[in-house]
Amino acid sequence: MPEEKRKVDMDKIVSLCKRRGFIFPSSEIYGGLNSCWDYGPLGVELKRNVRDAWWRAVVQERDDVVGIDASIMMHPQAWVASGHVEGFSDPLVECKNCHLRWRADQLSGEKCPDCDGELTEPKMFNLMFKTFMGPVEDNANVVYLRPETAQGIFVNFENVRSTMRKKLPFGIAQIGKSFRNEITTGNFIFRTREFEQMEIEYFVKPDTDDEWFNYWVKERFNWYLKLGIKKENLRLRRHGKEELAHYAKDCYDIEYLFPMGWSELEGVANRGDFDLAQHAKHSGKGLDYFDEETNERYVPYVIEPSAGVDRSVLAFLVDSYDEDIAEGETRVVLRLHPALAPIKVAVLPLSRNEKLVPMAREVYTEVHRHFMTQYDDAQSIGRRYRRQDEAGTPFCVTIDFQSLEDKQVTIRERDGMAQIRLPLRDLVSTLQAKLSGEAFTTQPTWSAKAVGTRED
Ligand code: GLY
Repeated sequence: MPEEKRKVDMDKIVSLCKRRGFIFPSSEIYGGLNSCWDYGPLGVELKRNVRDAWWRAVVQERDDVVGIDASIMMHPQAWVASGHVEGFSDPLVECKNCHLRWRADQLSGEKCPDCDGELTEPKMFNLMFKTFMGPVEDNANVVYLRPETAQGIFVNFENVRSTMRKKLPFGIAQIGKSFRNEITTGNFIFRTREFEQMEIEYFVKPDTDDEWFNYWVKERFNWYLKLGIKKENLRLRRHGKEELAHYAKDCYDIEYLFPMGWSELEGVANRGDFDLAQHAKHSGKGLDYFDEETNERYVPYVIEPSAGVDRSVLAFLVDSYDEDIAEGETRVVLRLHPALAPIKVAVLPLSRNEKLVPMAREVYTEVHRHFMTQYDDAQSIGRRYRRQDEAGTPFCVTIDFQSLEDKQVTIRERDGMAQIRLPLRDLVSTLQAKLSGEAFTTQPTWSAKAVGTRED
């Protein structure tokens, strides 16, 4: 549906990310490595802010979810129990002419999309990366790089329940890297073989699963809206029966309108009791739950909101990307929510004049104690504003010659480019209020919720 495609080209996002130090091709000096990307100084801050906003919303602000950080390599039997050894596969075909490989289920015709050559019969290809633990490379020492963080949570269900004295319903959250040897990758950081997940496994009484499933679909959808994603670019899509993963009873995808079209940002699945029952069977350890209220013993059902960190970063970049006109020229601006902006405040002396430097450094030192701040004195003030706009910095503080006289500075806001002048002594409290959503001279484009600064 081409009319639904976003106006922003992926090329513009990739180029901005490279130019401003958000994301670089991996091992670029060696020509790069297919589908691998490195987060640069601004990208790493943005990614941390996405993770932090998620963790705050699903763990720290709730009393029914706790976090863990499990190891990437797990006992290989865990992947037998989870069904991944047997069933985590895609159908692979190869072109007999140009030898390109494709996922058979993603092809519309029967020929190679690249050269129209004949394709081989599909072979099931397991997506788990396999390696060996220790120096001996034999079957007894095979381990897998986890293809989802979820299983590290399931195998710790009883550890967490008993040590934290949790009663149903409760959840366990985890953020971490996962690995899938995808046959086809692409669309920048959207589909990569190494990626980061933010997953919650929320354990519930079996007959309450539908209610909790609907709750989490809504809760997670709203999280993206609170952080500034435009409603028209977000939608829910329920999986058809034939599409459901081997463990799922029901599933909604939260989809975002990326430059290549609507694609999955997060999946919310009802996994029933599949995982705990499987691990109980394969490990021989009981993973059922005694309900003191009803005097019943049962295996909890699980609702799983599973989000991609990298996909979220991409969605926030695409959604906040804008071009408008400033001083007669096209301006590129990232209208990021302040909680996500890598740099909250830039301190800019009008020039490098030696009279301005001491006061500008003093302002920087003070502001830097409270917020992620950058000092920039290179090139004209207009060029510096443009750089900060491209980085998504919500506020610039300018020190000019008048500031030396009246001890006042100017705050310039990113979205409307409005400016206010205020006494230096009010600077930190004003920035704090405005980063938390207080109106500037115009209404802020972000909501007051979900704002994070170094002070909270
Ligand atoms: N745990 C679900 C997924 O990784 O897709």
